[in-house]
Amino acid sequence: MQNALALIAAYLLGSVPFAMISSKVFGLADPRTYGSGNPGATNVLRSGNKKAALMTLIGDALKGAVAVIVARQMGFSDTMIGLVALAVFVGHLYPIFLKFKGGKGVATAAGVLLALDPVLGLAVAGTWLLVAYVSRYSSLAALVAAAAAPVIAVLMHGATNQTLVVGVLGMALIGKHWQNIQRLMAGQESKIGSKKK
Ligand code: G3P
Repeated sequence: MQNALALIAAYLLGSVPFAMISSKVFGLADPRTYGSGNPGATNVLRSGNKKAALMTLIGDALKGAVAVIVARQMGFSDTMIGLVALAVFVGHLYPIFLKFKGGKGVATAAGVLLALDPVLGLAVAGTWLLVAYVSRYSSLAALVAAAAAPVIAVLMHGATNQTLVVGVLGMALIGKHWQNIQRLMAGQESKIGSKKK
């Protein structure tokens, strides 16, 4: 019973859409109506409001980290902590508060990874930063980091339950970016900082 409640709570926490909250706070348009239409930090940045984008990034990352940290504090097993990590991530991707149409999970996955394993989280975040700095594509950085995450996890820890969780997060994240992949291949993806259309 306690496990089921923890998973529901993690899902509900993941469902809290910080892109919508920050847009409301800063008086911006609904991020689903411009740019990529994604309720996420990259798209909120296309509004031109960096503070709103930062608030989205921090909020979406924090909810992932908080779910894992609270699960650990409550004394759950490693397997259960992994399931809580997946539940908060699924909440962000398919939020009950947005009719199950959520974001792509990059910030939330980063928060989850940093809380699950700070060294792994920093390595994956560093991969994102490096690719984003070189390419200026947020989506490409997310795709490379998502693909690299399970590889780094295996190199660090071998094939553990946590590695499996990291692999599932990475695959789901890549799946959510299929439109970005099509735009990248067509040379139509917008770069970080370009304004909304
Ligand atoms: O954080 C999501 C990012 O990887 C892509 O966002 O708005 O360009 O689809 P977007």
